[in-house]
Amino acid sequence: MYNPFSLEDKTIFITGASSGIGRATAIECSKLGAKVVITGRNEKRLNETYCQLEGENHIQVVADFFCNNDIEILITKLPILDGIVHCAGITNPIPFQFITNEKLTSIFSINFFTPVLVSKEIYKKKLIRNTLKNIESQINQYSNFIRIHRICIVNRHYIEKLHKSNDSHWLTIKGFDEHLPVSRQYLLKLKESL
Ligand SMILES: NC(=O)c1ccc[n+]([C@@H]2O[C@H](COP(=O)([O-])OP(=O)(O)OC[C@H]3O[C@@H](n4cnc5c(N)ncnc54)[C@H](OP(=O)(O)O)[C@@H]3O)[C@@H](O)[C@H]2O)c1
Repeated sequence: MYNPFSLEDKTIFITGASSGIGRATAIECSKLGAKVVITGRNEKRLNETYCQLEGENHIQVVADFFCNNDIEILITKLPILDGIVHCAGITNPIPFQFITNEKLTSIFSINFFTPVLVSKEIYKKKLIRNTLKNIESQINQYSNFIRIHRICIVNRHYIEKLHKSNDSHWLTIKGFDEHLPVSRQYLLKLKESL
């Protein structure tokens, strides 16, 4: 049976997987068929998550996001990925009189800066980039999505108006200010669908 939520043949990287949201996400992704790469600081709890994963060929890497060396090793151990879920995070409630720039920076370092920097490195090396042609073939059973240009697929339910000026055509979309170009090769099909 067709399952649009299937993660068969996908590899998903999940941070903060030794506990809480990250652990639950890793287990669910594995149940949906994904191979998962999980990371966290605490080796014992990370391994507890690992033991609850369904399927095979999962990877676990212990890494502390405060440690640059750990992050570098983690990135080298990552395979090509289809997706990333950042769940690593800390909460540190501090009374106002004890707040310092250093304490705030350390919270933001784990909750924001490191995930963004790790994603940047992964994006450069390890993330599969999809093509519009591929996406088009994956969603071609949904008749509301239509290709209008080399760089655009739109949901025709949100098309506001097809415009024409001289020889060029473009679309306006409800609630979106940008003008979307329409190529000549897709024009006829678009007009038929409106
Ligand atoms: N749970 C909620 O309802 C909720 C709601 C909104 C937002 N959040 C936020 O979402 C995040 C995750 O929440 P949670 O409930 O899943 O928290 P959690 O159970 O405490 O899990 C936090 C995860 O982050 C990892 N982590 C913490 N510091 C790290 C570091 N320096 N390097 C690498 N990994 C580190 C922990 O690894 P170790 O266990 O190995 O240390 C653990 O796997 C937190 O930032 C939280 O504030 C949670």
